[in-house]
Amino acid sequence: MDVTNNMGVESEKIVAAKEASKLIDDGMVIGLGTGSTVEFFIKEVGERITKEEIEVWCIPSSYQSHILAIDNGFFVTDLFQVGELDLCIDGADQVDRDLNCIKGRGGALLREKVIAQASETVIIIIDSGKLSEKLNSFIPIEVLPFAYGSVRKKIEKMGGKVNLRESDSKIGPCISDNGNFILDVEFGVLENPKELETRLNGIAGVVENGIFSSEIIDKVIVGGKTARILRKS
Ligand code: 5RP
Repeated sequence: MDVTNNMGVESEKIVAAKEASKLIDDGMVIGLGTGSTVEFFIKEVGERITKEEIEVWCIPSSYQSHILAIDNGFFVTDLFQVGELDLCIDGADQVDRDLNCIKGRGGALLREKVIAQASETVIIIIDSGKLSEKLNSFIPIEVLPFAYGSVRKKIEKMGGKVNLRESDSKIGPCISDNGNFILDVEFGVLENPKELETRLNGIAGVVENGIFSSEIIDKVIVGGKTARILRKS
């Protein structure tokens, strides 16, 4: 499909979000990712909350999802209260044929990975333009501001081309919901996403990186005319 066709992309996101919304049962506590596809999901579940009078609890991964969840009738809880979740629904920036993902274009990768790891089942919802044989997109990396210079040098020595993400609406770096910087790093084609994920997190000052290797992902729902479910082989 032509990913420059925004209406097509949007309708695929809605198809994936609708399919995921069918998985929600009364009384569930779910992890909510961040981004435009998750926004469609929250609105779909919000309609069910109103029509079916079901109760849905959530732990949002960002202020964006937190505000949307409240506006759409969810109850919000936290990881102090609930240490394990049944289900996490999130979007992705790129998904490879083994279901490894890159996430974090929306800057929420740290909390997204926390809630994904806390969930028994993790489902990614995407439009078909996100699929790629291998991962080759830039990798968002959340970094403690104090360690910016040393982390940058270490990543450059590993062969990464580092861009400090700038804010759109203020001068200077984009600050994550956790008060950290985000680096967008190009590594080219990732032959071994899991290994790079682990290596990056071994650098002191890296808080988390946006490679979500497939071990944490259970299913990917891809929007199209209908929803397609991808599972690990
Ligand atoms: C935010 C993310 C998002 O899930 C990812 O950027 C996809 O966003 P969208 O659904 O808007 O395409 O990782 O940190």
